Amino acid sequence: MRSIDDSGPDLVVLGDNLDVLPTLPDGSFTVVYLDPPFNTGRKQRRHAVTAERRTAGDAGTITGFRGRTYERIRGDLMRFDDRFEDYWAFLEPRLLEAWRLLTDDGTLYLHLDYREAHYAKVLLDALFGRDAFLNEIIWAYDFGAKSRSRWPTKHDTILVYVKDPERYWFDSEAVDREPYMAPGLVTPEKRERGKLPTDVWWHTIVSPTGSEKTGYPTQKPEGVLRRMVQASSREGDWVLDFFAGSGTLGAVARDLGRRFVLVDDNPVAVDVMRRRLPHARVESAVDSAVEQER
Ligand SMILES: C[S@@+](CC[C@H](N)C(=O)[O-])C[C@H]1O[C@@H](n2cnc3c(N)ncnc32)[C@H](O)[C@@H]1O
Repeated sequence: MRSIDDSGPDLVVLGDNLDVLPTLPDGSFTVVYLDPPFNTGRKQRRHAVTAERRTAGDAGTITGFRGRTYERIRGDLMRFDDRFEDYWAFLEPRLLEAWRLLTDDGTLYLHLDYREAHYAKVLLDALFGRDAFLNEIIWAYDFGAKSRSRWPTKHDTILVYVKDPERYWFDSEAVDREPYMAPGLVTPEKRERGKLPTDVWWHTIVSPTGSEKTGYPTQKPEGVLRRMVQASSREGDWVLDFFAGSGTLGAVARDLGRRFVLVDDNPVAVDVMRRRLPHARVESAVDSAVEQER
């Protein structure tokens, strides 16, 4: 078991997240941000069934926190559209681990493509409870080719769930404000201060020529993750991303005085993170050896 130690280093781990997550202690992270690979329609890698069928409260089968409803909804949904089945079989055990790893006041941000978001929303409501659902954030951007046969799809969906609706941490005052859309309609003081972001976030993608660009193909903008970390954690709290890619969550956490654990099974991603976050300790889950110490 790894320890999440305030006096220890921030961590980057190379390995399959389903192998790494069980080595992290319960209730360690105030924010878990996940940006899994989108459902490509191809079969996802599966793990041993015993490891997957971890449960929200019961050993053996997943019943969901809401009892039998989850299994029924899951069955209905998979019968309705089995293209989602492999993807969910891949995500489900990892989401259960995410839930276990959240602190009681913690928040899960699950970043999905518009094709998957609604299936996932129904399943997560049944799994974690509808009252744990906090927001559906729409990240809207405007870049790239545009379809002429339908409305061009230029948004991602981020589903937000809290571990405990009575205790979760959310500080809207800590979030960077943004310009009013109609500044002429508000007082100069308000205009100067800016407005709180809503659940629709207009934000450019990572600029192909900007300083933030790491070259990792699926890199997300720091500005989008920054809001999540500002609102849902405090200085010194630990945050986790186990589909870490280029390590955007780590970069944001470092700048905001949070601690982080990042996991990715792609050695290219880990190389990018090593360059982007040179202070972090890099480990390999394969042999648990320290791959590189700084
Ligand atoms: C969409 S990218 C994440 C991009 C990231 N948010 C960023 O800003 O750079 C998804 C990442 O998940 C990683 N991944 C996919 N399956 C994984 C697994 N089973 N264990 C660990 N990482 C995995 C991929 O290597 C990829 O880097």
